[in-house]
Amino acid sequence: MRSKQNNRTLSIFTAIMCALILFSCYPKPIGPVGQDGKQLTWDMMSTDQRKMHMKTVVLPRAGELFRNWKPEKYSNPGCTLCHDNEITTGNFHMPGRHLPVLSGDWTLKPEFEKYPDTTRLKLDKLVPLMSEALGQKSFSIITKRGFGCYSCHMGPSGPMFGH
Ligand code: HEC
Ligand code: HEC
Repeated sequence: MRSKQNNRTLSIFTAIMCALILFSCYPKPIGPVGQDGKQLTWDMMSTDQRKMHMKTVVLPRAGELFRNWKPEKYSNPGCTLCHDNEITTGNFHMPGRHLPVLSGDWTLKPEFEKYPDTTRLKLDKLVPLMSEALGQKSFSIITKRGFGCYSCHMGPSGPMFGH
């Protein structure tokens, strides 16, 4: 009896520790090894390193997702899928004005009503894929921070949720 209770206490303790560790593990190292011998996080990477990471990790994964979703429309996605022709100016800053402006409602109610398909796909697949590829925490409805829709899209009056 007693050992069962201990076990339960232990597993609750373990769950809390795991949650804490997961929470504090962001940003995760995802890039090349830096000068101190440690792998770099996205924030620590130079523009050239970021371009390389986009090319070798982000574009292949996100491109495949869009291609599988609508093979005709997204037959051969490139950087301009997300960055548009800002690419010619060398400005890759996100979120970008060229993507559709979203409602600014963090519950995504208007998006679910108007665009249920793309909203589901983005929420269930694209956001987790991108956060993982960039070693960032996904958007949290509690902190209203993290990688989410507004990492790519703008709200009605510009960037939102700290992006
Ligand atoms: C699926 C969408 C997507 C595609 C495709 C994509 N990017 Fe990005 N890119 C992003 C997002 C989102 C960010 C911002 C990440 C962040 O800082 O949170 C970003 C950031 C960047 C940055 C850093 C910008 C800055 O302000 O420091 C560079 C450079 C970049 N991308 C280059 C590229 C290149 C080159 C390609 C093609 C090989 C590419 N990207 C393809 C979504 C994309
Ligand atoms: C990594 C970047 C990225 C993220 C994150 C992202 N989107 Fe998008 N979104 C895009 C791109 C790229 C398009 C397509 C633009 C095109 O086809 O010209 C798009 C298009 C859309 C559209 C327009 C659909 C249409 O048919 O006109 C809506 C609505 C949308 N996204 C909602 C969302 C929502 C809601 C989220 C979060 C759950 C989200 N997006 C997250 C990049 C992103």
